[in-house]
Amino acid sequence: IIELATIVKEARSKPMPISHDITSHVLPFEYYIFNKYGKKSYTWFGPKPRIYVADPELIKEILLKPEEFQRPHREPLRDSIIGGLVVSEGHKWAKHRNIINPAFHLESIKRMFSAICLSCSEMISKWELLTAGSSEAEVDVWPFIDNLAGDVISRAAFNSSYEEARNIFCIQKEQMELALQLLFLLYLPGGRLIPTKANNKFKENRNKLQTLAKDIVDKRKKAIEMGETSNNDLLGILLESNAKEIHENGVGMSMEDVIEECKLFYIAGSETTSTLILWTMVCLSLHQEWQNKARQEITQVFGSGEVHYEGLKHLKIVTMILNEVLRLYPPATMVLRATHKETKLGDMTLPSDVNIIIPIIRVHHDPEVWGGDASEFKPERFSNGIASATKGKGMGCFLPFGGGPRICIGQNFAMIEAKTAIAKILQRFSFELSPSYKHSPFAMFSLPPQFGAPLILHDI
Ligand code: HEM
Repeated sequence: IIELATIVKEARSKPMPISHDITSHVLPFEYYIFNKYGKKSYTWFGPKPRIYVADPELIKEILLKPEEFQRPHREPLRDSIIGGLVVSEGHKWAKHRNIINPAFHLESIKRMFSAICLSCSEMISKWELLTAGSSEAEVDVWPFIDNLAGDVISRAAFNSSYEEARNIFCIQKEQMELALQLLFLLYLPGGRLIPTKANNKFKENRNKLQTLAKDIVDKRKKAIEMGETSNNDLLGILLESNAKEIHENGVGMSMEDVIEECKLFYIAGSETTSTLILWTMVCLSLHQEWQNKARQEITQVFGSGEVHYEGLKHLKIVTMILNEVLRLYPPATMVLRATHKETKLGDMTLPSDVNIIIPIIRVHHDPEVWGGDASEFKPERFSNGIASATKGKGMGCFLPFGGGPRICIGQNFAMIEAKTAIAKILQRFSFELSPSYKHSPFAMFSLPPQFGAPLILHDI
């Protein structure tokens, strides 16, 4: 235990050398376990066994059997801030997923595209102000990109209530930080009831979030009852789909459920997407040849004009780059499952109540899957698509968005947002790492840079 605690503390306390070989820094504990005990290992975590599975075939088996391998039913950290789809199971999950799905179809996202563009343009205008008067400037791009993803969700999900929705984003961010401060109390039975300052703030924020989200949903429902059509944002499409379900089958989602989903969009969809955009900028700073190739492609497709929705599907090089970044820097570094009765997995029989950890980042850096250059940045791997990059070995090898029936519902949304942001940034700036840059991917709810990301932006 002392050895492991020292490894984790060491890895977390300082930046790492600049390299894409980040697994030992990001998940030091899991890295240690795998190196010592192999791709199927287990530890005891208190009274519970915890299995680590990094074998692509077993991962596929787990993800394709969501009834047998459900998300852990009690996960104090997750449950303290996440509700909605992520924590529901079985019939309730299937019904809700079915109702929410239309909001994430490509046709729906197309209607939100102007909201995505507006938020990207606003971020770029801020960078232009910082570079104004000289041809270059050092900018810590992380806070801007982090803010961008929250801004995009606020507009794309709650168009007409943008200002109130921004408050949800800010409070959710604060909740994520507070949850980490409260980590010990969250796992301590009754710990949430102890009236510490952080606990009280957490409760106060929870109530505020509920009121804000409820007000937005109530306002929208009233507007729809008054005859306003409202199908150009996530909330509008979700309410429309829910009304259809109630009309056809008598039962849909309750308004409490809709409110939970609205809050979830921020937790599941903002920092994950912002870390994808951030690490793409870092990788393109380190690999200028790919930055140039991507810019050339963007110029071919859009010239110096506006980035448009139809053009995004012609961005082959940008897509290859994003896939390679998702492989090396997966925003969700692991997914969790648990058994709830005795369950077969490969040639093992697992007892009930075993936690299962799928360390996505470890699989994505595995030389046995990706070859000896697994931790090098080589977007050309994806030149013939994902199936060819994984040599037909399937979803267990490349799973930035998870896999199987519970695959990320927002993956199209995230990719469109990331492509738009990268295209707009590359049209306007070239960039490189600042000498003060410290490499610090840090696994928390996603994979943010622990010490920010100062880059030198050059006007072009
Ligand atoms: C689920 C990753 C963006 C909403 C997931 C899962 C992963 C993931 C790995 C599966 C978790 C599991 O199996 O336990 C990502 C990444 C993103 C991203 C890497 C960005 C690059 C988004 C966005 C939204 C979103 C933009 C919505 C606005 C969700 C939801 C689920 C989910 C609701 C739960 C799906 C279900 O259980 O049916 N995401 N996500 N995600 N994601 Fe994302």
